[in-house]
Formats: sequence, structure tokens, C-alpha cells
Amino acid sequence: MSRTILRGRVLTFLSEPQGIDDIASYRYLEDGAITIAEGKIVAVGDYDAAALGDAEVIDHRPNLILPGFIDMHLHYVQSQMIASYAGSLLEWLNTYTFHEEQKFSQQGHASAVATDFYKELIRHGTTTAVAYCSSHPASVDAYFAEAERRNMLMIGGKVMMDRNAPEALCDTAQSGYDDTKALIERWHGQGRALYAISPRFAITSTPAQMEAARALVAQYPECYVQTHLSENDAEISLSMELYPDAPDYTGIYEDYGILGPKTLLGHCLHLNHRETGVLAETGSVAVFCPTSNLFLGSGLFDRARLAKMGVRIGIATDIGGGTSFGMLRTMDEGYKVLQLRGDRLTPLNAFYMLTLGNARSLSLEGSIGAIAPGNAADLVVLDVRATPAMRLRAATLTSLVEELFLLQTLGDDRAIAEVYVAGARAKSTLGGL
Ligand code: GUN
Ligand code: ZN
Repeated sequence: MSRTILRGRVLTFLSEPQGIDDIASYRYLEDGAITIAEGKIVAVGDYDAAALGDAEVIDHRPNLILPGFIDMHLHYVQSQMIASYAGSLLEWLNTYTFHEEQKFSQQGHASAVATDFYKELIRHGTTTAVAYCSSHPASVDAYFAEAERRNMLMIGGKVMMDRNAPEALCDTAQSGYDDTKALIERWHGQGRALYAISPRFAITSTPAQMEAARALVAQYPECYVQTHLSENDAEISLSMELYPDAPDYTGIYEDYGILGPKTLLGHCLHLNHRETGVLAETGSVAVFCPTSNLFLGSGLFDRARLAKMGVRIGIATDIGGGTSFGMLRTMDEGYKVLQLRGDRLTPLNAFYMLTLGNARSLSLEGSIGAIAPGNAADLVVLDVRATPAMRLRAATLTSLVEELFLLQTLGDDRAIAEVYVAGARAKSTLGGL
């Protein structure tokens, strides 16, 4: 069995940091060695030249090696419409998004965009993501086929949407059900692929389609569910008009039985007390999408209130409402959103969220999100001196926490020195893929 050893400064989280000096929440090795065999981590410890055996050693010093970043919500079919100029969510959807997504009925287009989408993920250090495809099954095939080719753990699904969008993008309650079922059978558990049942949001799904979603969730409890919740005031009002019997927006999804520990709810910006309690009780995950929320002027995520009430939280780019594929840029803006809320996010918490935190929110602890034996060797190598401005600032660093804060505040794709997917170099080899 051939083994590879990555040498570098190794950082991985063990638990959610409880403060800026919570040294028990992470493991840090100043001169660490990660031993990899057959795509998995088999050992982690201090580097020991005497214990190398026949292993190949790749020396990443002085860079930091962390678990690969996890992006909990984005739309791969919106890769070519980032930076579309709109005042707010519904205008943005109607003017650009629904037009753009129609192109994905063509398998060739879907495959071409999927290839570039994965390149962007890798370039930015993301090794697992949860994406919406378009309503066309061909877009899902392209998405998972490309993930398989790259050996990546990816989650996604076809959006179900049967109203309030152009005809060419709409399915029906029946076809949305049938297509989703066929795609789950084809892709869920195939290699590293995992399926997310994806009713887009209440506005674009009729009650009949929500019933179909309920049936799918009951039939396939092992699958994820993803949808959007409480992003924008006009969206909330229209949702309540369309579902007048629901107590509130969250109540729509609650009534159709699609909340639960595998349910990922994008945005969650304007939830009332009852809704927040329902998310906590059901174990559903609220996904914070800072660059999107700022770009579309949707609102400021209230992490402290949600966390206090026991809601599970993840963080994501939400491409193409979001404006960067990078989780470092996402965290920079996330930090600023929380500053405006009077909520301090420590750098330890930031990197916890990007790795183990998001893995836990996906119930994938033990597979990804930590550098530990048995986990996949999905890793990112970070260079805090990647740009002139970073190098200038790095000269005054005095601690690991300061280094992390610099990475999240000034870092972008240039700070991602290398990426490993299932033990294989993925960023430096992108030219060949
Ligand atoms: N709500 C429903 N669809 C979408 C989408 O594509 N992007 C965002 N940001 N919100 C949505
Ligand atoms: Zn979204």
C-alpha cells in the first residue's frame, strides 16, 4: 500500500470553540505529518524523519494544512450570472436567474459549466459543496458525473419548481417527483455522491408539489433536503399569500413534513420566535450566506439569536446571489455582517465553521471536516503570505489566531496554495482537468 505524508503546520478542530483562547477546541501541530493511503487519512502526528519508511513526503512548510472547506449552499447553474445587477431577490430571480437556468436543458452546456464550476471550487479550497442544479435532470447528471471524475464528496439535486417561473423551467408535481426519484436511484450513494431533494422555495412550488416533496422525504430519509427560507420581505409576503393557512413561512415547510436534521434552509434572515423554535426542535440547519445577503440587500443573519435558541448553523457562498466562490471571502463578509449585529465571531469559530462545523451541520462528522484517521484526505493548504498586502501584514503576526484572522480577512484564491481531494493533489493539477 503506497503512502504519502504531508508535512506542514497542521490545524484541525475537535469541538466548537467557546472563545478566542479556547485551545482545547483544536489540535495544532507546528511540524506535523498527515499520512495518507488510498484516499484516506491513516495517521496524524508530529513529523518524525525516522518513521517515514517508503512513504513519499510532500513538504508544505511553512504553510498551514486544514481540512478542505465545505460550502453548504450554492447554485452551480448560476456560475455565469454572478454580478447580475438587481435591486432585490425577486427582481434578480425573474430578470436573470430563471433566464440563465433555462440553458441547462442542454447536456453539453451543463457539462461545460460543471467543469468550470468544479475548477472554481478547487481553486478556492472547497472540497465538498451542496448545490442546486436546474430543474432539468441533465443538469444533475452533469453535476454528479463531474464530481465522480474528480472523486469529490458532493451533495445536490434537481430543483423542483412548478409555478411562478417561465414555462421552460417548470416541471409539474408529478414530473418533479418522478425525475427526483429517478435521480436519487441513479446518484445517491454512487461513489461519494449524496442527493438533496430540492423544492426551490414555497413561491415556485404548488401545494401539490409540496405534497410530492413530502412523499420523497418520507421515502428517502437518507437524502438531504434543501430549500430557501425567509430571505427577503417581498418573498415572505408572497409566500404567505400563496399558503394562507400556514402560520408563517417556516410553517409551510413544517406542514409538509420536510423539516428535519438533514434539511438545509438557505438564508433564515427574518424568522420570528416561533419559527426559530421550530428549526431548533426539528434539528433543521439554517445556512448563513453573507455575500449573497449583502449583494441582494436581503438582511443581516442573526447568528447569536439562532444559536441561543439551539438552531444548527452552516455557512455558504450562495453563488450566484453570492459574489465569491471562496469560503475565505465569505467568512470575511460574514464577520462584518455579524459585527453589524453586535456579534463577535472569533477566527477560531470562523475556521471551525468552514470545516468541522459545516461537516457537523451535514451530519458528516467522521468522514470529512477534520484531519483524523479514517476521514477522507480532503485538505487545503493555506499560505498567509500569498499577496503583497498579506506578506506585509504577516510580518507582524504574533499568534496562530492572528494568522487565521489575516487569512479570512485578506485571503482569497491566491492564499490556497494546494488542495487535496481524496489524497490526490487537485489544485496544482487543474491544468490537466
Ligand atoms: N430563492 C429561490 N431561489 C433562489 C436562488 O436561486 N437564489 C437565492 N439567493 N434565493 C432564492
Ligand atoms: Zn440559494
